[in-house]
Amino acid sequence: MKTKLTPWLPLAATIVVASMLAASVSRQQAERVNPTPVRKRQSINESWKFTRNDPPNTNGLAYSAIKSWVLPTGNRFLKDASRQVERPSGNLGVDVSYAQPEFDDRSWRAVDLPHDFAIEGPFNTQGGGGMGRLPSAGVAWYRKHLDIPARDYGKSVFLDIDGAMSYSLVWCNGQFVGGWPYGYASYRIDLTSCIKPGQANLLAIRLDNPPNSSRWYPGAGIYRNVWLVTTSSVHVGQWGTTVNTPEVSSLQARVNVDVAIDNDSKQQASVRVNSELFEIDRNDRRVGDARARIAPVQLTINAGQSVSIKTSCVIAKPKLWGVSSTQKPNRYVVVTTVEQNGKAVDVYETPFGIRTLRFDPEQGLLVNGERIQIKGVNNHHDLGALGTALNFRALERQLEILQEMGANGIRTSHNPPAPELLDLADKMGFLVMDEAFDVWEAQKTPQDHHLFFADWHEQDLRAMIRRDRNHPSVILWSIGNEVGEQTAVAAGGEWASRLTAISHEEDPTRQTIAGMNSARPNSPLVAQIDAIGLNYQGAGLTDRGERDTPQFPIFHQAFPDKFILGSETVATVSSRGFYTFPVTQSWVPAGPKAGEQDGVLQVSSYDLYTASWSYAPDKEFATQERYPYVAGEFVWSGWDYLGEPTPFNQARSSYFGIIDLAGFKKDRFYLYQATWRPELPMAHILPHWYWPERIGQVTPIHVYTSGDEAEVFLNGKSLGRKKKAQYEYRLRWDNVIYEPGEVRVIAYKNGQRWATDSVKTAGDASKLLIAADRATIVGDGKDLSFVTVSVADKDNRTVPRSMNEIHLEVSGPGEIVATDNGDPTDMTVFRSHDRKAFNGRALAIVRAKPGQRGRIVVTATSQGLQRAEISLTAQ
Ligand code: GAL
Repeated sequence: MKTKLTPWLPLAATIVVASMLAASVSRQQAERVNPTPVRKRQSINESWKFTRNDPPNTNGLAYSAIKSWVLPTGNRFLKDASRQVERPSGNLGVDVSYAQPEFDDRSWRAVDLPHDFAIEGPFNTQGGGGMGRLPSAGVAWYRKHLDIPARDYGKSVFLDIDGAMSYSLVWCNGQFVGGWPYGYASYRIDLTSCIKPGQANLLAIRLDNPPNSSRWYPGAGIYRNVWLVTTSSVHVGQWGTTVNTPEVSSLQARVNVDVAIDNDSKQQASVRVNSELFEIDRNDRRVGDARARIAPVQLTINAGQSVSIKTSCVIAKPKLWGVSSTQKPNRYVVVTTVEQNGKAVDVYETPFGIRTLRFDPEQGLLVNGERIQIKGVNNHHDLGALGTALNFRALERQLEILQEMGANGIRTSHNPPAPELLDLADKMGFLVMDEAFDVWEAQKTPQDHHLFFADWHEQDLRAMIRRDRNHPSVILWSIGNEVGEQTAVAAGGEWASRLTAISHEEDPTRQTIAGMNSARPNSPLVAQIDAIGLNYQGAGLTDRGERDTPQFPIFHQAFPDKFILGSETVATVSSRGFYTFPVTQSWVPAGPKAGEQDGVLQVSSYDLYTASWSYAPDKEFATQERYPYVAGEFVWSGWDYLGEPTPFNQARSSYFGIIDLAGFKKDRFYLYQATWRPELPMAHILPHWYWPERIGQVTPIHVYTSGDEAEVFLNGKSLGRKKKAQYEYRLRWDNVIYEPGEVRVIAYKNGQRWATDSVKTAGDASKLLIAADRATIVGDGKDLSFVTVSVADKDNRTVPRSMNEIHLEVSGPGEIVATDNGDPTDMTVFRSHDRKAFNGRALAIVRAKPGQRGRIVVTATSQGLQRAEISLTAQ
């Protein structure tokens, strides 16, 4: 079988339609225009069969050997038709039993997607921890029996995979139908020609995860959602709408809606296309009547062709999408209907937001005319103990905790995120720097994606932009992170220019950027990107200037017309609740005698110990204040993540997070909150005050507060009142002599009492305490409750350094999916119900069994301690 070459979409015939009707349309009218949706988008996450490895004697499925089979899947994303590849004739994998429908997979394991097969462990304690020590490398197969109803005969059927790690190959009923190498890409496989409506159908997917393919834990398996999309043969194409808002005022907003329609049939099609625009709420429900309607456009599409139309309308008194916390993330939806012979054949919804963006080289970022300081974090894609298997609630929790801290930005380091991240960012009012690549042609690890970058950069980048461009949260397209080509090589300039051109073709409304830690203004890459992202060097690495000078002014001077920000900053390392003494005056690289303790693979949480290339948060705050043209920063990193356990390669997960892997706040959380939410009255004391062995020894107290002054009391005696000097973000009492009791702080702002905090020395551990982030969860098998267990004394004070073994159990219609404690060195598998407390705390992640309701009781026990239980409701 040969596949036909697909037209590159934006070059297909484009019809410009300026007609518009800025009228309010009644709901009844709207429903008449949009009869029963004819497009079906079904989740097919359930009931897959899974196994590791190929069947014996399988050869020849390595990507390098079969790329001419796989490349055609990306044809639609190649502008230059001469780069499009025709699939070879015949079939691939006829001799591979797992790919064949008749293979008996009953002995395989039953799994539901999203699925990360490596997160089960065990941890491999040999070798380095860069990739998280979990068994993510190797081949895996997934199979699914699909029933396609006979009434779908003649329909177009697509498999949409949001992400599979990696080198996917897909067979449908034994026929090879496509694949996609990049594990972070979302892609579509057209099943139309091989599916048998009314009969049993079989999907087989092979993944291959090379070892040494990543600098962090990549995860493994089909780790994002998978959809079966059924449409009429004439339908809106994949990611076929582009919505933007070129003119916005308080009176009205112009909304441009481009629609690409595919005619997969063998006949010419004559269609009418119209769109209506509604306001939507946080749950995507339409609010009120249509706010605008785009009059029908008539067009003819030849068999097998795509046509794009450009339409436009005006929304009066628009509610703008904006950034939390000063603006509100209002959203709308475009409902596009395609009619053929007077009948709706497709209805397609595109949520969007109305907002303006200005990338100002002097003022930074302006959203709706207001300067917004980017208070962002870098996050990798794993969800801690859940691995990379996408879970909406776990992701939402990450963003909620970040928002509580005052963060308003996410950089999706260093790859396209799960689509749900962008949905959440839209709904919660985050700004997103959407990143495509960590490597170009120059490798960082031997088997990373430099191996197919030349073949796939265009398809990967266009796919990411087409998927993500209607999200109001997305502000920048990052074409690379610290790529090897960033320094003096000409290839850096050539690639940057090519990738920027692609981005502009796909989306002229946003800028391209790259994160650069060693490029200099004269590096060829820099001239070719729209905006400048500096990693660490922006602030000059250390405050002592011994490794570098701040590069923001140097780049700003060399490129006065370019928008500039700190794409990666800080990289302070710490372990929650762990402190070493003496405490350094200024920040230093963590090392023996600097934040580390012999034999204990933890780093002190005074937030003064860093990776060797980095510095403490305070330095970046000062830099951002000193250079107000810098649009903000993305801190490395928001949450701890699996892999890259600098400075201890023996560990399993990072120390960089402001929030630990279990989601517990480290002290640094409060340093950011104090600075990023100056209006929130708060104060936080560190360290904890449980140091029986330190009586009489110097034990410094630091206070993070959104106030400007504070007085600390130890057992009622004042240790003095201190004021923050300019460019100071924490208050320090360096010479405190430890005695047990109570440390209390009263913070002031502008001379007025503002906030207080206190810590008291705990007694002996006597009980467990238990608390859940949500007491009621949906019984859909996906929703989660995050249950925290703490070791406490008789007065319910957490015992800070306790490491008691805790056993967790659940009764009723629930289960414990994973446990954790935030300790980067803990090699107990995440699904264990036995978890040591780490500095007083452990976490159980609980879900309701699918379809079940009722009372779930979670019990925590530990030898010698009073047990604790909590009841949750599954509804
Ligand atoms: C950066 C890199 C990140 C991470 C970070 C740790 O140089 O871009 O991916 O490795 O260092 O500080």
